[in-house]
Amino acid sequence: MTALDDPAEQVPTSAGGDNHALSTAVDDAAGTPPAPAPGGAEAAGRRSWVRHLTRWGAIGLSLVLVGTLGYLWFDSRVPSTYSVIDMGYADYGGGAVPLAGHQHAGGVSVSTLTGPATGTPAVAVTLTARKESFTLASGERVDGYTLNHASPGPEIRARVGDLVQVDLVNESVPDGVALHWHGVRVPNAEDGVAGVTQDAVPVGGRHTYRFVAQDAGTYWYHSHQVSHEQVKGGLFGALVVDPSPADLVLPVHTYDGRRTVQGASGERRLPAPAGVPARLRLINTDNGPLRLSVTGAPYRVVAVDGHDLHGPTDISDRGVVIAAGGRVDLSVTPPAGGGAVRVDLGAGSSVVVGPAGASAPAAVTPAAVVDLLSYGTRGPVDLDLSHFDRDFTLSIGRSPGFLDGRPGLWWTMNGHLYPDVPMFMVRTGDIVKMTISNDSGEVHPMHLHGHVALVLSRNGVPSSGSPWWTDSLDVDDGESYVIAFKADNPGIWLDHCHNLPHATDGMIAHLAYEGYTTPYVIGGKADNAPE
Ligand code: C2O
Ligand code: CU
Repeated sequence: MTALDDPAEQVPTSAGGDNHALSTAVDDAAGTPPAPAPGGAEAAGRRSWVRHLTRWGAIGLSLVLVGTLGYLWFDSRVPSTYSVIDMGYADYGGGAVPLAGHQHAGGVSVSTLTGPATGTPAVAVTLTARKESFTLASGERVDGYTLNHASPGPEIRARVGDLVQVDLVNESVPDGVALHWHGVRVPNAEDGVAGVTQDAVPVGGRHTYRFVAQDAGTYWYHSHQVSHEQVKGGLFGALVVDPSPADLVLPVHTYDGRRTVQGASGERRLPAPAGVPARLRLINTDNGPLRLSVTGAPYRVVAVDGHDLHGPTDISDRGVVIAAGGRVDLSVTPPAGGGAVRVDLGAGSSVVVGPAGASAPAAVTPAAVVDLLSYGTRGPVDLDLSHFDRDFTLSIGRSPGFLDGRPGLWWTMNGHLYPDVPMFMVRTGDIVKMTISNDSGEVHPMHLHGHVALVLSRNGVPSSGSPWWTDSLDVDDGESYVIAFKADNPGIWLDHCHNLPHATDGMIAHLAYEGYTTPYVIGGKADNAPE
């Protein structure tokens, strides 16, 4: 595992040292003015000596350059099989450091952190994964992935306290599958990350997930094996806890460039009575931010990432942005006097909510969007913010270098390239503060598994609206967010960008609880590849 063991520190020192020594010699040689033909054997000798020095200096410099690049290339290669707990370097966030240092050996295996082993599930679903072509509800053919022959997969509805059991069967996904419950606080062994909390389920295999639904709200599930390809191709579905029967659950997804809602492109009509608020549970399953606008009646944002907002107010002149992986619940009321409400999702996709036959005004795109930092009113927060046990920094940048042997301009975390990234170390019970900043030139929807975080401030401006709990937070270029969460769910958790191709390109770190280890590996016999 040498390639993963903090070698970066040594590179600049040794290479830089050699480089300096050689460039001095070359500079000296090159700096010697061209001899003005003074004549004489002594001068000719000096000229040829200078030529020699210049030539050898240039060759030497090239060798050092090639050597340095070669070393960086070599050093960047990620072993085909490794454990995530050997990745990068431990970051204790200024908190307690275990005596043994970055030491997981002998820890509790995350495979023991399962949901209830006994008990009859209140919700039991079998999901059979296939790689196949299928027809969207709007008629287009897609070559992708399905669950029970459909994409999105079945909508799972549960109540708080329900034991949920999902039997995942892989019938024909060649790379294997795993199901992650995005935003849901499940025990670590149920988190569905291939290579971290389980092995990918091979064709012909099955895996059972069991967990108790703890929090009401809008969530989703998706494959966490080769996820950048499988999620894009359709291997996902909605999971909602404690919905009203009339709630509309609306996963938005782009298949082959076609934006869809509930798996149908174009305008989708959803019947709802006039004068009665309807709850629309929107899920952004794509890789980029989803910007929506509403026409036909004022509306409210009533929940974000599964958590109800406090004191939401009517909105009529602003749109809403949902981060990739994020969810937003809207409350819309079709006007009592007739007409319908249109929620425009861009790219020709919209939903029209109202009585049958009612029409909705055309979409207009407001210039402004709702700012969740100040929307709603302050409310109670179930998190002790009087002191922090850990204070982490996650600063996202971009720099040239080698990623697994490939030269390019790559995402960095705290200045480091994958796999030399921080491992955020915590103890059960810690109150954790994390500052996430971004100057990489692009937005990154940061997603922490197994926890929900409270936004404290953005660019130094404290949150002044409803408590804003999130698990999928868009950090725009030039922004800096401070968030806080309680480390109350032991295990090893991914903390990554939910623009999944970015995760593939190394925007992936972990939150690890001291004293836990994983028996699973990236690569290995199961070919685990969570991104
Ligand atoms: Cu929906 Cu690791 O993510
Ligand atoms: Cu990203």
